[in-house]
Amino acid sequence: MNMLTKCLFPAAGYGTRFLPATKAMPKEMLPIVNKPLIQYGVEEAIEAGFHDIGFVSGRGKRAIEDHFDISYELEHQIAGTSSEFFLEDIRRVISGCSFSYTRQNEIKGLGHAILTGQNLIGDNSFAVVLADDFCVNSPGVLSQMTELYRQYECTIVAVEEVPEDQTRKYGIIEGEEFENGLFKISGMIEKPEPQDAPSDLAIIGRYILTPDIFSILRNNKTGKDGEIHITDAINVQSKKQMVLGYKFKGQRFDCGTTEGFVKATNYVFGSMTR
Ligand code: G1P
Repeated sequence: MNMLTKCLFPAAGYGTRFLPATKAMPKEMLPIVNKPLIQYGVEEAIEAGFHDIGFVSGRGKRAIEDHFDISYELEHQIAGTSSEFFLEDIRRVISGCSFSYTRQNEIKGLGHAILTGQNLIGDNSFAVVLADDFCVNSPGVLSQMTELYRQYECTIVAVEEVPEDQTRKYGIIEGEEFENGLFKISGMIEKPEPQDAPSDLAIIGRYILTPDIFSILRNNKTGKDGEIHITDAINVQSKKQMVLGYKFKGQRFDCGTTEGFVKATNYVFGSMTR
């Protein structure tokens, strides 16, 4: 069986909604209270058993590399002080994984970002986490999905019901529920208008993909808005083989918007002070 060890984090976007904060700082480094958004995603991946972490980054994203590396000066400075406590989580992350990076030199959509990451993945099934979709649950969403992968060994996307007027923000699936919360997908469309949406089930940023996705992506024509979409590639897979949609357990915050970001911050701060 194909072991899942590799998890890809597309992280090349500009984060224009958060300007000017993201002018010189990657949006992935924006903190939810005191931890960068991307670290939550990496911790979720580690909890699910992934220890090869790949980033598809871009210009101006150096801070991500520095974050997932040891800062000897800092370690030296705070050794033996109470501040060491604040580094416990990131130390665990750094010692538990290997990190690799590749650059997406043009912004041409999520499918293009994932294809750019192929050299970090090779011929293996792998996970993709969009850190903007901040998910809280125990066990985490990716753990729930790896459990399913062990059973079905196919491409799996996390889905969530969204209000009708929001279908144009997401990939929307068409499928049949064959077990509670588990859908056999027969098709999917990227960001349809409500009247064209096949359901109200939106794909959120957690994927497990089988490696044949790369050749499909390579042959994919550009789709909506001139971008290469992962949704279009998984749609092709769903016509040939089993692809599952999984209504995950947990809560998601859309940290790609300021509103979702503030809600996530309040949620995390609330759980720290409870
Ligand atoms: C991307 C995908 C979309 C998916 C969404 C989840 O869109 O293209 O299919 O539903 O992530 O967050 P983006 O948010 O990058 O526009």
